Amino acid sequence: MRSIDSSLKVLDMDYIDLLLIHEPTADYLEIYRAMEDAYKAGKLRSIGVANFLEDHFKRLTGNCTVIPAVNQVETHIFRQQKNLRKLLNEKGTVHESWSPLACGRNGFFRNPILAEIGAKYDKTAAQVGLRFLYQQDIIIIPKLTHIERMRENFDLLDFELTEEEMNAFYVLDLGKSLFDWW
Ligand SMILES: NC(=O)c1ccc[n+]([C@@H]2O[C@H](COP(=O)([O-])OP(=O)(O)OC[C@H]3O[C@@H](n4cnc5c(N)ncnc54)[C@H](OP(=O)(O)O)[C@@H]3O)[C@@H](O)[C@H]2O)c1
Repeated sequence: MRSIDSSLKVLDMDYIDLLLIHEPTADYLEIYRAMEDAYKAGKLRSIGVANFLEDHFKRLTGNCTVIPAVNQVETHIFRQQKNLRKLLNEKGTVHESWSPLACGRNGFFRNPILAEIGAKYDKTAAQVGLRFLYQQDIIIIPKLTHIERMRENFDLLDFELTEEEMNAFYVLDLGKSLFDWW
């Protein structure tokens, strides 16, 4: 609670739009309770979590009064989080992806399936990989330091992957982190 108040002071704001717990530390239920109080007091407009996989998310939602608005978790073509997404959809929590381009790991930008489907639509591997997430209503926050990449990553609303193409990506799911996270 003190941390929320000091952030508001530093930001010179009366409220924060969205505050997340970065990861499920041992005391996350207690932290979330403080966030719920701040939410009810109007200091936070929305509250959520990050890196909560199925077990932590179930425990949290079984012990809270405000369902998390967002869960930000590692999600890309090599880690698709299908089971977690089902659970998030059931609870009405938005699935947000971190590292939607897998940070280029595992040969992401040279992946032959992304390249082949991209060639059909005149799109890059990055655009196809982001579109795959976008079409599942997953929020994507790619990071970049080049303005041309920002333009490229925005330019994914003028094509749609078919069901068959979406299915072609499901085989790429390794079901584990590329970053030694959970
Ligand atoms: N909550 C968490 O625990 C957590 C953990 C990790 C990351 N995140 C957040 O997730 C966001 C993204 O994650 P991330 O940076 O790890 O991975 P990412 O967005 O998957 O990948 C970023 C890398 O991809 C490159 N890139 C971006 N667009 C490209 C394009 N169109 N073509 C070729 N290369 C492209 C960037 O290059 P350049 O920079 O050289 O342009 C950068 O090296 C960040 O905002 C980060 O803070 C959150």
